[in-house]
Amino acid sequence: PGRQSYKIASIPADGIGPEVISAGITVLQKLSEELDTFDLEFEHFDWSSERYRKEGKYLPDNALEIVKGFDAILFGAVGAPDVPDHISLWGLRLALCQPLQQYANVRPTRILRGTSSPLSNCKIGDLDWVIIRENSEGEYAGHGGTSHMDEAWSVATEVSIFTRHGTERIMRFAFETARSRPRKKLTVVTKSNAQRNGMVFWDRVATQVGKDYPDVEVDKMLVDAMTTRMVLKPESIDTVVATNLHADILSDLAAALAGSIGIAPTSNLDPTRKNPSMFEPIHGSAFDITGKGVANPVATFWTASEMLLWLGQKEAATLLMEAVENVTEAGVKTADLNGKSGTVEVTDAVSVEIEKLA
Ligand code: NAI
Ligand code: MG
Repeated sequence: PGRQSYKIASIPADGIGPEVISAGITVLQKLSEELDTFDLEFEHFDWSSERYRKEGKYLPDNALEIVKGFDAILFGAVGAPDVPDHISLWGLRLALCQPLQQYANVRPTRILRGTSSPLSNCKIGDLDWVIIRENSEGEYAGHGGTSHMDEAWSVATEVSIFTRHGTERIMRFAFETARSRPRKKLTVVTKSNAQRNGMVFWDRVATQVGKDYPDVEVDKMLVDAMTTRMVLKPESIDTVVATNLHADILSDLAAALAGSIGIAPTSNLDPTRKNPSMFEPIHGSAFDITGKGVANPVATFWTASEMLLWLGQKEAATLLMEAVENVTEAGVKTADLNGKSGTVEVTDAVSVEIEKLA
């Protein structure tokens, strides 16, 4: 086959988003130059808190139509000190993920060469997980309301939604992921002792879907106990499926246990491939380090690698992570990994490695 060509929508958005996305695009273009398998065409969108301040909206009315014309979306981070977080999150990130039916949020975590876990006994290879987060409903479905705001009798509800359709499809995706990995192990995270409706349903659907995957070893874990297992027995975990809220929390813990939130990637996938999927580093806009040139670009490099994998460019995806780990192993790292290098130095070092490996 000849060179494949992909159109990528880039949405750097806020804070360190533009710094890390620019680094990500640099290494992606480098890969495209060095390999003769694919071309990338980026189009940039200024959908951000700055646009919100000027125009009162994060997205133009035809945003969904626009992004549907792309093969993938590369997203930075959204959030600004002067905009409430629920406005920015729902105004931009969730406004894309939910209508694009990106129901599977995939969060791989492992310890990269040259980095270490804060856990004293956890070596490279001991922590190698994929967390699958339900990304379309559950606790973040947006169901609920507020009445009598600011009165002594004001009341607010936030209702979790678990549909058979939504639960079944995420379970199927999680079992497929577990099956594709060497250990074929899936942990279903739940809280069905206390939440006796939605979470009991969640467990039930997991058991039903699991019947189609007899080769996958399944265990069930209450979310609170899961946090201690992640810390005390990381090697006992492989693939994990959890609700929108539970996986949100567990995956930040996972990133920290693997060394830093500055390395962890996320894919928001529409597994049916009807809509483009969206790829982003796990971290937020990090106001405290914005503009200082110290943001770790590795999370975005790993994110770029996951995007290439989804687009079918396995060789490039693997080569990129090899280059990244050669660089971390050589000690070219940002401060969050106890290094002394800046964003640009790490990016340049990865580009040089790509050239060597290609
Ligand atoms: P954060 O992830 O932005 O920062 C947490 C800590 O990690 C900070 O000390 C930050 O400096 C550090 N950090 C994050 N990324 C880093 C990187 N690449 N290199 C080095 N250090 C890094 O989370 P925080 O502070 O809770 O949220 C800040 C804003 O970001 C808020 O507005 C929040 O809503 C938003 N946010 C957006 C997300 C998204 O767009 N997907 C995800 C998480 C938060
Ligand atoms: Mg989060």
